[in-house]
Amino acid sequence: MKIAVVGTGYVGLVTGTCFAETGNQVTCVDIDVNKIEKLKNGVITIYEPGLDVLFDRNIKEDRLHFTTNLAEGIKDAEVIFLALPTPPVKMGQPI
Ligand SMILES: NC(=O)c1ccc[n+]([C@@H]2O[C@H](COP(=O)([O-])OP(=O)(O)OC[C@H]3O[C@@H](n4cnc5c(N)ncnc54)[C@H](O)[C@@H]3O)[C@@H](O)[C@H]2O)c1
Repeated sequence: MKIAVVGTGYVGLVTGTCFAETGNQVTCVDIDVNKIEKLKNGVITIYEPGLDVLFDRNIKEDRLHFTTNLAEGIKDAEVIFLALPTPPVKMGQPI
């Protein structure tokens, strides 16, 4: 299955990597150019025990991709997961 994950932070990167590990083609999208550049170069951007092993394997097996281009990232995706920051309300507390 082709899956897109929009937002590649703690939730998005773990989710995307695990979906790739279970055999899906995954594209992770983020607006942070530096983060996506690192990920494209095989550099993991968060610490999560064991994630590096899955990350490396799925990059090598070409199931895990990264982009800053939303249109390209979600093209042909059967499922799109949003792992974006929760917008704060006026006083800053979560909705
Ligand atoms: N981390 C947790 O343990 C946890 C637990 C429960 C719920 N959540 C919720 O999950 C969501 C994601 O949390 P997180 O910890 O992964 O946050 P995070 O800040 O690590 O990741 C969010 C990512 O979204 C990216 N982003 C922001 N705007 C974007 C846009 N318009 N297009 C594409 N990418 C964009 C940011 O650059 C960042 O990389 C939040 O709503 C949070 O409240 C997180």
